[in-house]
Amino acid sequence: MNVLILNGSPRKKGSTSAALSKKLKRRLIGCSVEICQIISAPEQEMLEKLKTADAVVFVQPLYVDGMPSHVIDFLKKAEAFCKENGCKPKVYAVSNNGFIEGKQNAVHLEQFRCWCERAGAEWAGGIGVGGGEMLRVISWIYPCLILVNFIASLFYLMKGAELNLQLFSQTLQNIGVYAFFCWHFWLTFGALSHNIRKNRKAKKNRFTRVFVPAFLFIIFADIFMVISSLLKGRFVFALLGKCKK
Ligand SMILES: Cc1cc2nc3c(=O)[nH]c(=O)nc-3n(C[C@H](O)[C@H](O)[C@H](O)COP(=O)(O)O)c2cc1C
Repeated sequence: MNVLILNGSPRKKGSTSAALSKKLKRRLIGCSVEICQIISAPEQEMLEKLKTADAVVFVQPLYVDGMPSHVIDFLKKAEAFCKENGCKPKVYAVSNNGFIEGKQNAVHLEQFRCWCERAGAEWAGGIGVGGGEMLRVISWIYPCLILVNFIASLFYLMKGAELNLQLFSQTLQNIGVYAFFCWHFWLTFGALSHNIRKNRKAKKNRFTRVFVPAFLFIIFADIFMVISSLLKGRFVFALLGKCKK
């Protein structure tokens, strides 16, 4: 089965949609999967791939409660192309957003369903993922922490420490915290991957999120925004600077 994953994030590096696309590809065992980023892949080549795709998965960020503008542009062309060439792939969508509620992506998923109706493609369901940025950060921080803890435990073991659960307590604790944050996302994402592998339609759209209470999420999100703004050089001085061009 041919699966085309279309990443709709305009970010060249470090996007949640890119990370989700890779995660999805890893889960689609037995399928031939290709990932294209809409903003950077040659447009005509991407459209041609629609002819041979059994399933197309749009993995996208939510922008102002809807589609990023370059995706709208692509969808218009894809609609005409599908009609001309009689392409009728099954279409799935994964929409991630910055706020914590996955349900905020409901309208975005609905936009894909409407597009399928116009293009003659078959809408097969989607998922809305809340706390996309947080999920991306957690999904690399925790595996790294777990690996470091595990290596440290092995190191102590080689130095003569007694082999017992206590030795691996830090590793187990971090596995537990990671699983707590992500369990609902893993299940929802797993269900979507399963449907794609089986070439099945989902009964309903599903919504998921990082499992953090909203009041805690706001604290994490604020810290994250401050650090990322500082690292990307957006100090107040930069904002007050002269125009470089
Ligand atoms: C222009 C713009 C508009 C956005 N609008 C929303 C929004 O309406 N609701 C929301 O929850 N997040 C919004 N976000 C946040 C993104 O959806 C979020 O950061 C997402 O994880 C980015 O995904 P990506 O890394 O795949 O591009 C917006 C971000 C940008 C840059």
